[in-house]
Amino acid sequence: MSKRIKIFDTTLRDGEQSAGASMNIEQKLEVAKQLARLKVDVIEAGFAASSPGDFEAVKTIAEIVKGPIIASLCRCRDSDIDAAAEALKGAARPRIHTFIATSDIHVEKKFRKTREEILEMAVNAVRRAKGYYEDVEFSTEDASRTGVDYLCQVIEAVIDAGATTVNIPDTVGYAIPSEWGALIRQVFERVPNVGKATISIHCHNDLGLAVANSLAAVQAGAGQVECTINGIGERAGNAALEEIVMALKTRQDLFDVRTTVNTKEFYRASRLVSDVTGFTVQPNKAIVGRNAFSHEAGIHQDGVLKERTTYEIMDPSDVGWVGSGLVLGRRSGKHAFSERLKALGYELSQPDLEKAFARFKEIADKKKEVFDEDLEAIVADEMYTIPETYHLEYMNVMTSLEGVPTATIRLKSSDGELLDAGIGVGCVDAVYKTIDKLVNLPHTLIDYTVKSVTGGTDALGEVTVKLGDNGNNIYTGRGASLDIVEASAKAYIQAINKLVHYQSKRSQAGGPPTKAIL
Ligand code: KIV
Ligand code: ZN
Repeated sequence: MSKRIKIFDTTLRDGEQSAGASMNIEQKLEVAKQLARLKVDVIEAGFAASSPGDFEAVKTIAEIVKGPIIASLCRCRDSDIDAAAEALKGAARPRIHTFIATSDIHVEKKFRKTREEILEMAVNAVRRAKGYYEDVEFSTEDASRTGVDYLCQVIEAVIDAGATTVNIPDTVGYAIPSEWGALIRQVFERVPNVGKATISIHCHNDLGLAVANSLAAVQAGAGQVECTINGIGERAGNAALEEIVMALKTRQDLFDVRTTVNTKEFYRASRLVSDVTGFTVQPNKAIVGRNAFSHEAGIHQDGVLKERTTYEIMDPSDVGWVGSGLVLGRRSGKHAFSERLKALGYELSQPDLEKAFARFKEIADKKKEVFDEDLEAIVADEMYTIPETYHLEYMNVMTSLEGVPTATIRLKSSDGELLDAGIGVGCVDAVYKTIDKLVNLPHTLIDYTVKSVTGGTDALGEVTVKLGDNGNNIYTGRGASLDIVEASAKAYIQAINKLVHYQSKRSQAGGPPTKAIL
């Protein structure tokens, strides 16, 4: 029987540490539910002590998502460990994951401590975590730059203190596969109690080697791999979960290991993480990129038509790839529309389906062909549950080569109709300035991105906007339309509606301002 490798997903913790990849609590819950469908072994739901928002996310996921182990990260500090334990109370299978850096550079320069002091902190933290739960993971941060003698000493001590998993991270993505595999082998050879814990690895991608290093560690005996969907994470990211699992599966002949991951959920997981973070997946990305299974050269197309395996080492359906499928158009009915959404992994409630179908019809009337990417943008656009304090009723934007862009906007609000006009340096600027005059709410525009969903000048444009308030909260809005100025207005209004909604929730609760991504 082949050895089982545990898959520890850290999309919601390390992945969310990617600059600009913040997710709100509802989005984190959606991702966690998808990770449970993927059947990963562990979901690292966040770092409970790092912010009230992270605490809430860990708590919510622990209470709602069943199946995988739910972990919270914490430093080797009593208050961190206590916060993780508290947030994990509702979990059926809680895990406290505590860590400290062990390399000389971190020990001396970051902590200004001795190795002995660090070892003591590690052991005390594991003992404290063990007082709460049986399942305790310890990570030796910056292990790839830690002397092997000290690394083995720390690992032995934390296992003696009760750690059930010891994770060895290549925190700065410095390792090379042969050397990394050799280090893991040494751990197995030199740590006397190594058999009492699962040895895990966690690789970053600074040199583009995160997946290769993870695979080398599996060959050296690691029993758990830490990774993220689409490889998102600090700096250049973490090892991509889908790439590791598919490499292990496709080259079973070489690795002789298995995972419990339901690979057919990869495509859906990848799209979801991309949608909620706003991080697009590059077309040539392995496993989940748009071009991962498309054959351009005539010789290749001919080969695949005769025998798929001539140019395909994996069956696209194994990763949940539903192909370009039938293209929908203005004559497509609700049945074809909902069947295509199901194939893409979306099960909408009846009211959401009605809303999305009405939107599809509107777009199909103007655009000859509606592709899968368009459908995904429509669904993302319509599944918006915050109350619409402001609704865009009318917008007229005028611009010319020499003229000043002008926007006239009418919003419907609970106080009645709001109408005004304004100018700007461009169309979007004119629209945003006019909306600002109408709603009169202090905020700052932190980020504005626009992307074309498919090719061609009739493509849907998708706009993501991030607004900040003076309490350091961030409100994300999205909008999709055939007209990017309209998409921009919709995204902006959605973010403003979130700002109004969450600010009024906070003032009703009488609580202090929090730092959160909403
Ligand atoms: O990269 C790293 O070292 C980490 C640890 C906290 C596991 O993310
Ligand atoms: Zn990391």
